[in-house]
Parts: sequence; structure tokens; C-alpha cells
Amino acid sequence: MLSVFNIGRGCSRLLINRSIHPYNAPFKAFRASNTWSSSIIKSRPALLKKLANVKFLRLNITCLRNNTTHAQEIAKAVPKKAEKIVGYWLLGCSGMVFAAVVLGGVTRLTESGLSMVTWKLFGEKPPTTREEWEVEFKNYQQYPEFKLKNKEITLEEFKWIWWMEYMHRMWGRTIGAAFYIPAAIFWAKGWLKKGMKVRVGVFGTLLACQGLMGWYMVKSGLEDRFHGESDVPRVSQYRLAAHLSLAFVLYTLLLWSALDHLVPPKAMAATVATRRFRMLAHSCKGMIFLTALSGAFVAGLDAGLVYNSFPKMADRWIPEDIMAYSPKMSNITENPTTVQFNHRILGTSTLLMISGLWLLSRRRRLPPRAYTATTAVAAMAWMQVALGITTLLTYVPVPLAASHQSGSLVLLSLAVWLTHELKLVKMVPK
Ligand code: HEM
Repeated sequence: MLSVFNIGRGCSRLLINRSIHPYNAPFKAFRASNTWSSSIIKSRPALLKKLANVKFLRLNITCLRNNTTHAQEIAKAVPKKAEKIVGYWLLGCSGMVFAAVVLGGVTRLTESGLSMVTWKLFGEKPPTTREEWEVEFKNYQQYPEFKLKNKEITLEEFKWIWWMEYMHRMWGRTIGAAFYIPAAIFWAKGWLKKGMKVRVGVFGTLLACQGLMGWYMVKSGLEDRFHGESDVPRVSQYRLAAHLSLAFVLYTLLLWSALDHLVPPKAMAATVATRRFRMLAHSCKGMIFLTALSGAFVAGLDAGLVYNSFPKMADRWIPEDIMAYSPKMSNITENPTTVQFNHRILGTSTLLMISGLWLLSRRRRLPPRAYTATTAVAAMAWMQVALGITTLLTYVPVPLAASHQSGSLVLLSLAVWLTHELKLVKMVPK
């Protein structure tokens, strides 16, 4: 039994070269030999179960599959320093996506999003002379936002909303450069593990889709479809929700992978109770995402400007016009009253669930950092709901609405951190 925890000379030298303390090695083995690996798998299954060391098992299986020794497999591994660099790169990219969401929110709230009426993949050149600005302004005047809402806008005011939208688009392209160029370099250097290569492919695809989705969303606000008396030119709430949720998904995946590299979770044997706690934490994360998605519909329909009272909606718990649209199902995504009502219900249910999770965490044995993460999630959930209510009661001022939007990403980040801390809470077979 003791010998299993010893490490052969060749292996320990490799580990020291990579600044890995043998105790933290991704395996616990004493011989770099396949014969030993295969024989222990065959002859000592009980011992392996007791160790419950998934990484050790994986290493043995890889050795068997590739017909290599432990030492050879470790030599192939990504150096520790490279792993950290990849981690910081992923963290940086997720931070940039966070900033893009905030910038996008401010662009929408300042009603700047429909000022640029064309889109070029590699960037639009900003006008420099007065003539060029006038041509750009003339282009804008052909579209519904100017014709129905902004007839009084001056060239100077137009320049301001144009720069807002330009910054949002250019920031998106900067994220593209900050992602694709290092991704290609790290790939070529062999710094990405097999699984990581797949993830980088997914992130790259999502990022490209995000850019295309952004333009698809803007296009819906430029179409000639606002003919009703109370119609306000704005982008489709469905496309806004798709654009926002895609950003949230990309952000979450980048952050999760960054944490994998930078703050590896602690392994812990799970009881049924801790496994339930982990499931509840994942459900809370899902609820935060769902509430944020419903928030995008509130934002898309300007539904924060109907019923500015809380907890009741115009002295009623359930507003009269909640089912005013026909067919009935369309109320969920098209009736501002229903959309706001659903967002309130989802927001408060999320808060209740997270508060329950926090209470439960006091009675569970968890990895040490998970306690801090649970408290942070609970504190942020209360802050987010307070921000939402204040935004509603004050008729959606830009700074509060923008803070409420960023708050939802902070809350999601903390929930991602918590679930990541619980990642290695695993059942130990008896
Ligand atoms: C966990 C709780 C909550 C989360 C995660 C959340 C998330 C969001 C998100 C992502 C948006 C879209 C922002 C945008 O794109 O600009 C939004 C909008 C909004 N939320 Fe919440 N929300 C929560 C709770 C609440 C509550 C309880 C209320 C009030 C009763 C509320 C009121 C609003 C309002 C008024 C808007 C529209 C703001 C705008 O037009 O920009 N939220 N929410």
C-alpha cells in the first residue's frame, strides 16, 4: 500500500522540472511501467477503488492505449507555466466578454444601437471630414428610427450615438483578435490539451456567431415594419435575447475553463447530502441564467416602464392585462405586462432558492472555498434583486439599469465559481 504513494526517480525529476510537488502529482504511482499499470488494474481493483484517484486511472488507461510509460506520458504533458498562461488568456477573454455585455447594455439604454446602418466584417472606417459625416447622417435618415422618433436629432447628437455603437462593434472585433491570435499560437506550440482544443474550437465558433447575431439583431430594428400608432422602432426582443444569452453562454464557458487552469477545485468524497447540495447549486446557476434571459425580454420590450410598483402591480398581485394578447402563448414573449410579471417571479424565486442554498451550506461538509462562494452568491443575489426593484421603481434610469445588467453577470460568475468548487465532489465507491 505504501509503495503506491512513492514515485520513481525518473518521474520525480520530471515533476520537479515542471515545479510540481510529487504529492500534488496527477498520479500516485511508483513505477513507470505498463506491465505494472495493467497488472494493477487487473489484480488490485479493490485498492484502486479505495484510492478513488480518477486521474491515476486515466493516466494508466492512456499509457495502455498509447503503449507508453508513465514517464513518457508526463513528458508529453503541457508544462505548468503554459497552463497558467492559457488560464490567464481565457480569464482575460471572459473579462473582455463581460465588458462587451456592459457596453452593449449602455448602447441599448442610450438608444444608440441603430445609428450605424451598415455592417462590414472587418470594421467600418469612421467618418473624418464634415462631408463624410453628412453622408453617414443621410444614410441614417433613411431608416425608421430617424423617421419615427429622432426627426429633431442634430448632426452633433448623431455623432455621439454613432460613436457609442462604433465602440461596441470595435470592442467585439478586439475580442476576436485577443482570442483567435493567441489560440492559434498556443495550438501551434502544443500548449492546448486534447480536450482544450475542442473547447477552443467551440469558443471560436460561438464568438463568430455572436458577431453575426449582433448584426442580425440590429437589422431587425432597421426594417420597415413599424406601422402601428404606438410602434417604437427597436430591435426584435427575440434576437436581443439570443444575442444576450449567447454572450452569457460564451462568458460562462470561458470563465469555467479559466478556473480549470487557475483555481483547480479540491477533490472531496461526497455523501448523498453533498451531492444534493451540488445539484441544487447547479439548479441555482440555471435559474440565474433563466432570469437573465427573461430580463432580456423585459429590456427588449421596454417592459420596465409598465407597472412601476413593487411588490404589487397597480394594486393587484396579478395584473388585469396579463393575458391580453392572442394567441395566449404569445403573452409570454410579447406582452410587456406578462414579460415583467414573469421576470419578477423568476427573480424572486431565484433569490429564494439561493437563500435556501446558503442556509443548507451551513449544515454541509463542503470543500473550504465553497463556503465563501456560497455566501458570495447569496449576498450578490440580494443585491441584484434590490437593484432590480430600484430600477423598476425609478423608471429605468441608465446607470441603475446598466448596473442591474452587470449585476446579473457578477451573480452568474459567482455561481460558476461555486459550482466549479464543487466539481470534484464525487461519490467514493465502497
Ligand atoms: C436574480 C435576479 C435577477 C436577475 C439575474 C436579473 C437579470 C436581468 C437582466 C439580465 C436584465 C436585462 C438587462 C439588459 O439587457 O439591459 C434585466 C432587466 C430588468 N430587470 Fe432584472 N434580474 C433579476 C431580478 C429582478 C427583479 C426582482 C426586478 C424587479 C422586480 C427586476 C427588474 C428588472 C427591470 C425593470 C429590467 C429592465 C431594465 C432595462 O430596461 O434595461 N429584475 N434583469
